[in-house]
Amino acid sequence: MDHVNKYIESNKDRFLEELMELLRIPSVSADSNHKNDVKRAAEYVKDSLLKAGADSAEICATSGHPIVYGEKMIDPKMRTVLVYGHYDVQPPDPVDLWTSPPFEPVIKDEKIYARGACDDKGQVFMHVKALETMIRNDALPCNIKFLIEGEEEVGSDNLAKWTRENKDRLKADVILISDTAMIGNDTPSIESGLRGLSYVEVELTGPNRDLHSGVYGGAVANPIEILCRMIASAKDADNHVTIPGFYDDVTVLTGEEREKLNKAPFSLDTFKKELAIDDVHGEKGYTTIERIGIRPTFELNGIWGGYTGEGAKTVLPSKASAKISMRLVPNQNSEKITRLFVDYFESIVPKTMKMKITRHHGGEPVVTPTEGVAFQAAEKAMETTFGKKPIPTRGGGSIPIVAMFEKELGLKSVLMGFGLDSDGIHSPNESFGVFNFLQGIRTIPHFYKNYAEMAG
Ligand code: BES
Ligand code: MN
Ligand code: MN
Repeated sequence: MDHVNKYIESNKDRFLEELMELLRIPSVSADSNHKNDVKRAAEYVKDSLLKAGADSAEICATSGHPIVYGEKMIDPKMRTVLVYGHYDVQPPDPVDLWTSPPFEPVIKDEKIYARGACDDKGQVFMHVKALETMIRNDALPCNIKFLIEGEEEVGSDNLAKWTRENKDRLKADVILISDTAMIGNDTPSIESGLRGLSYVEVELTGPNRDLHSGVYGGAVANPIEILCRMIASAKDADNHVTIPGFYDDVTVLTGEEREKLNKAPFSLDTFKKELAIDDVHGEKGYTTIERIGIRPTFELNGIWGGYTGEGAKTVLPSKASAKISMRLVPNQNSEKITRLFVDYFESIVPKTMKMKITRHHGGEPVVTPTEGVAFQAAEKAMETTFGKKPIPTRGGGSIPIVAMFEKELGLKSVLMGFGLDSDGIHSPNESFGVFNFLQGIRTIPHFYKNYAEMAG
């Protein structure tokens, strides 16, 4: 692997420049104004796969944003790894909180600052550059397929359909994904589970128009107040979710499993300091690690209604709305949880309100195996480059397609991510360490080598 490391070392500036080029494209999948930018990012990823030496790479149109599919097949008798990632990014809002523009990447304090730097353009690009490195150094020990989509941040609906229609093409032995985080650069870890997601939007309508809050106030129900009461009733004083049946299917971990999970290095002080909070909060009876990794949630993501402009306007609003996400853990099902939520809200909405509930994208929870050659290949690869054996952890985020890959393709995934929680994905000033980017490129070839050797 010496020549591989040398190649990375002598090409790292170009690797970074090429990543910055990708980061300059505002491929915000949620915003239709950026449809063409999303397409440009797909083109860029496709071209970079071809330049890296892939046999083929193409743009596959969907009814939403396109999918990039590429292959490097060296021998059909050998193992095949399917690399999944996404080139779409979250909206950069709130833009005024960025210290440098979100789509004008800069390197500062050894970190690349840009929307998508870590999630997931930077991590996708590690795979492209690892491919280039392996091909140029004759160090590719297996076949690789690349599936890089443009709709992860909006739920991957079209990829789910495409996957069902392209099962043959996607034949592989395992899926490798870099779209998660590690505990720290001196504490490598590999996530072994992702939470699922149910996402709903609730709109309450009271009177047919905004009213004078003096002329009508006190005599007509206020939709903001009613919505707040309904939402507040969904949790009790111990922060348990009160929606009937919400916890019914949750896989309960044994005492031993919980103990193991809580052994992962974690400092509550650092956690609080980093977020500038004086205390943590969550479901009674569970540690912070457990609240994030193995327990489902009910969170408000946005709430609005009435007058929010400058000054005071006396108004009793006609409408109030909220966006709510529920993170799910193994054995829960997103459709069922959404249904339980709708049933509960329908049972408590007062006669004074008309309610409209919109179901947004969802995704199923998944546990990825920590036994088996693929996980071991990743463990050994990280141990080689970090000098420390990585710790298996349970992440709190969601990648909706992973459970779907398991169901439709029968393939398990390895979540070998190189981000850090402090990278601020989805937040203003998202970043990705230059070290992390290069360490990913150094580690990925070891994964392939180990996997090809161990899987035989
Ligand atoms: N890469 C993240 C998910 C993630 C982050 C997993 C950190 C583990 C650790 C992904 O891009 C993401 O943000 N997913 C969304 C899914 C949703 C939009 C359907 C999420 O988790 O909110
Ligand atoms: Mn991601
Ligand atoms: Mn994301």
